[in-house]
Amino acid sequence: MWFLFTIPLLLGDLVIAQEAAFNVPITPDDLDTGRPGAGFLTYSIEFATFPDYAGNLSSPNEFSHNLMNNVAELSGKKMYIRVGGNTQDMYTYNSSLDVALRGDYNLNRSRDYPTDNMQIGPSFFEAYKTWPGYTFSHGLNMGGNKHPNAWISLLETAEAACTLIGANAIEVWEYGNEPNGFPNSGQYSVRGPDFREERYVQEWLNGTQAVQEVVERHCPDMAGDAFHGWTAPSLINIQIMTRPQYADNPNRIVLNFTEVWAQGQNKTANVVQYGLHNYIDNALGPVTLAGTLLNHTRMRLAADYVLDLYKEVNTDLPLILSEHNSVALQGAPGLSNTFGAALWTIDMNLYAASRGIYRSHMHTGTNYRYQPWQPVETDRVAKGTKAPYYGQVAVAAFIGNNSETAVDVAHIPLAWNGNDNPWEVAYAAYVEDRLARIMLINMRESNYTHQRLNETASYDADRPLREFRLDIDLDDGTEVVVKRLRANGSDAITGITFDGWSYNYEVDNGKPVRLDNVTTGESIMITNRTLFVQLLDSEAVILDLQHVGSSSDREDPPVEATAARFLTQPLALMLGIVVLWAV
Ligand SMILES: *[C@@H]1O[C@H](CO)[C@@H](O)[C@H](O)[C@H]1NC(C)=O
Ligand SMILES: *[C@@H]1O[C@H](CO)[C@@H](O)[C@H](O)[C@H]1NC(C)=O
Ligand SMILES: *[C@@H]1O[C@H](CO)[C@@H](O)[C@H](O)[C@H]1NC(C)=O
Ligand SMILES: *[C@@H]1O[C@H](CO)[C@@H](O)[C@H](O)[C@H]1NC(C)=O
Ligand SMILES: *[C@@H]1O[C@H](CO)[C@@H](O)[C@H](O)[C@H]1NC(C)=O
Ligand SMILES: *[C@@H]1O[C@H](CO)[C@@H](O)[C@H](O)[C@H]1NC(C)=O
Ligand SMILES: *[C@@H]1O[C@H](CO)[C@@H](O)[C@H](O)[C@H]1NC(C)=O
Ligand SMILES: *[C@@H]1O[C@H](CO)[C@@H](O)[C@H](O)[C@H]1NC(C)=O
Ligand SMILES: *[C@@H]1O[C@H](CO)[C@@H](O)[C@H](O)[C@H]1NC(C)=O
Ligand SMILES: *[C@@H]1O[C@H](CO)[C@@H](O)[C@H](O)[C@H]1NC(C)=O
Ligand SMILES: *[C@@H]1O[C@H](CO)[C@@H](O)[C@H](O)[C@H]1NC(C)=O
Ligand SMILES: *[C@@H]1O[C@H](CO)[C@@H](O)[C@H](O)[C@H]1NC(C)=O
Repeated sequence: MWFLFTIPLLLGDLVIAQEAAFNVPITPDDLDTGRPGAGFLTYSIEFATFPDYAGNLSSPNEFSHNLMNNVAELSGKKMYIRVGGNTQDMYTYNSSLDVALRGDYNLNRSRDYPTDNMQIGPSFFEAYKTWPGYTFSHGLNMGGNKHPNAWISLLETAEAACTLIGANAIEVWEYGNEPNGFPNSGQYSVRGPDFREERYVQEWLNGTQAVQEVVERHCPDMAGDAFHGWTAPSLINIQIMTRPQYADNPNRIVLNFTEVWAQGQNKTANVVQYGLHNYIDNALGPVTLAGTLLNHTRMRLAADYVLDLYKEVNTDLPLILSEHNSVALQGAPGLSNTFGAALWTIDMNLYAASRGIYRSHMHTGTNYRYQPWQPVETDRVAKGTKAPYYGQVAVAAFIGNNSETAVDVAHIPLAWNGNDNPWEVAYAAYVEDRLARIMLINMRESNYTHQRLNETASYDADRPLREFRLDIDLDDGTEVVVKRLRANGSDAITGITFDGWSYNYEVDNGKPVRLDNVTTGESIMITNRTLFVQLLDSEAVILDLQHVGSSSDREDPPVEATAARFLTQPLALMLGIVVLWAV
């Protein structure tokens, strides 16, 4: 019989020291802990592709719905989803349009979405009804896209949104996407050089006030105190704007987040969440899988940068990554769509959680490189579940159901003799102050394609295993449940499983299916208060200490001892030896 085992290990009692290459003892003070909000891992869906993702009432997108439900099931909450992005500042509302959305592509502006003459009609709002129980923000157009009717359209959209989405499905409102880009888009700039902090906030206050008046008039159930509030400022991480395509522009306008806030964006007292957008770099590079995404040091630089900006703003509202993903400009092929990006997704999101970030909206759009799934078939990308989704599931599984019971996440720094360690990564999850789960990530690149091309090498032998040793205060004989996130290598884009589960479209339309050709049910026995676990290069593992068993209490036949399989595999390298112990 399996039973719930309580670990006599309290938060603050975990001490980490490192052996071999690792020799720096780490005290509990080194652990950053944060408490993610319920529904922490969620989505931001590109405005123009929301009808693809959600469908409409007569033809709902069940595949998307299934994938969302998987995450909701793990996290215990149907999430709040943001509908917005670059295209939210490009549309006008047309009450007689008989399709959800229409627009023209202008390849000079983007090949990823329509940018010109974009209109939405009333049926756009049907999409919000296809995923009952989820809540949304509908991105309102602030930029205007140089459209003469932008202001009238804003007021009409507000009326349509409040009446057609309804109070129950609206979480918050958002006005404008990344306004700090408005004056910086060359010939497509929608504001001039006078669009500084003061001007932006003035416009924002004017527009949001007008929208609230419309909502008050047409949707009395959202009037006054019942108004759901705003997410703001939706600015993009300034660091991204120092990248090549912006830096080349000597007239670049950089809005200072602290000054934006100080200008009185909170004057209406209706900003309920402080949302920033973050990408760790952008697709124009130089970016590589090993150097950028599979690089814990690089991830921390980018995350700490946005955390520092937030700290400087000095607001008491929680920080939300309201649009977030690997590299900006919809991701880079061979990076953002790979299994390596799934490992980055875990690292980035758990680090964010450990630093107190309240929620993370992973951005997606039809045909995007960093998309977790492609909702419809197009001539560019096949409909299906993509590699990053598996990392998102692992994040949701690791944090677990925190809808009613708080979960704290700690980042466990595994520095090598004081130097940054870009490859071995560890996090701990505490439920009611008890250590419940440990996430280990081996971020070393393992290029499957490259190895396969090398006919002299056996694939398995070429992919090193690294052993992590954890000294842990559990009785000898305790079996810790192991859940692995695996693929053939960091460059894999298919064949990914989490704990033996597939969420692939072609398997069962995104519903979880336990594959019978993947090893599952692995557990590792504690001996001498020590747990050894081995990870292939480019692999992540969750050690579940909440649902442990004991070898003496097991009635069911012992699951095939898969741990043994790993132990007998040749160890190409033995590195990353980590010692955790309780004092
Ligand atoms: C999450 O946990 C709460 C509280 O224990 C429980 O009521 C709820 O059913 C759980 N949700 C899921 C989806 O398991
Ligand atoms: C609105 O959509 C209808 C139906 O497609 C079209 O006839 C009309 O011209 C559109 N209005 C504007 C202002 O573009
Ligand atoms: C609903 O979606 C289907 C499939 O995409 C489409 O054919 C139909 O026109 C849509 N209905 C509306 C009202 O947009
Ligand atoms: C795209 O740019 C080219 C070259 O600058 C120009 O000739 C063309 O008209 C532009 N297309 C659109 C749709 O603006
Ligand atoms: C708000 O913006 C609208 C549209 O640009 C403009 O007509 C109006 O005068 C503005 N109000 C204030 C107080 O700035
Ligand atoms: C933003 O402005 C504040 C003063 O209001 C200044 O202290 C801070 O350094 C500026 N931040 C950045 C990132 O430039
Ligand atoms: C926003 O204003 C409200 C009401 O004055 C206040 O309670 C809240 O702390 C303010 N938030 C920030 C981040 O300043
Ligand atoms: C990882 O990122 C850091 C910080 O950007 C950088 O100094 C280092 O060279 C990167 N490592 C690799 C292997 O590219
Ligand atoms: C993986 O190896 C293949 C074959 O050598 C190469 O084409 C590809 O660029 C490599 N991928 C990465 C991310 O380095
Ligand atoms: C091919 O594999 C062999 C055996 O692992 C290794 O010695 C050799 O360096 C590899 N060649 C390339 C091009 O990676
Ligand atoms: C395992 O099963 C899945 C689903 O049937 C299949 O797509 C996959 O190719 C199989 N993997 C292996 C290694 O046979
Ligand atoms: C258990 O650990 C202790 C302390 O590290 C060591 O001295 C002893 O040899 C270990 N016993 C076994 C059976 O590994």
